[in-house]
Amino acid sequence: MITFSSRKKPSAPQVKALYRHAWWAKDRQISKIRQMLSHTDLLFTCWEGAALVGLARVNTDYAFRAVLFDVIVDPRFHRQGLGTRLVENALAHPDLRQVEQFWLYTTDKQAFYERFGFRQYPENVMILKKAKP
Ligand SMILES: CC(C)(COP(=O)(O)OP(=O)(O)OC[C@H]1O[C@@H](n2cnc3c(N)ncnc32)[C@H](O)[C@@H]1OP(=O)(O)O)[C@@H](O)C(=O)NCCC(=O)NCCS
Repeated sequence: MITFSSRKKPSAPQVKALYRHAWWAKDRQISKIRQMLSHTDLLFTCWEGAALVGLARVNTDYAFRAVLFDVIVDPRFHRQGLGTRLVENALAHPDLRQVEQFWLYTTDKQAFYERFGFRQYPENVMILKKAKP
């Protein structure tokens, strides 16, 4: 049975195992994943029993902005609505009620996010990409 949570804390190895399925996350180091988990404001997860099968996370000031990161579902469960539920749960979270804008970065999943009302603003967004140490 698939369950959703905004309270359960997956371990860094569980998140690492999920990241294997995303080209942009597959090389992330376990130590940095641990760091990330301890500084994530809201973590949305889905589980098959005790196995982590989906994740989305939000960092926010709880007033003006929230950034949605790392929406990822185990490929065995794609196209079954899990990704949609994770994003919906994030956007509807009561602690984010006052937030005026949700931001996200995506290279190739624009069609997926447009379903929730996200739109592209290429003229406004600037990114400083640092070289990896
Ligand atoms: C994007 C992702 C999270 C979607 O998860 P999912 O559980 O398969 O999504 P859902 O089942 O809720 O799909 C909902 C709808 O979104 C659309 N959709 C799903 N995956 C999509 C994709 N890869 N590209 C475009 N649209 C997509 C489809 O219209 C789908 O509905 P339908 O197939 O029933 O018509 C999943 O493909 C994934 O984990 N990808 C790898 C990680 C990644 O790149 N995440 C995005 C980071 S920006």
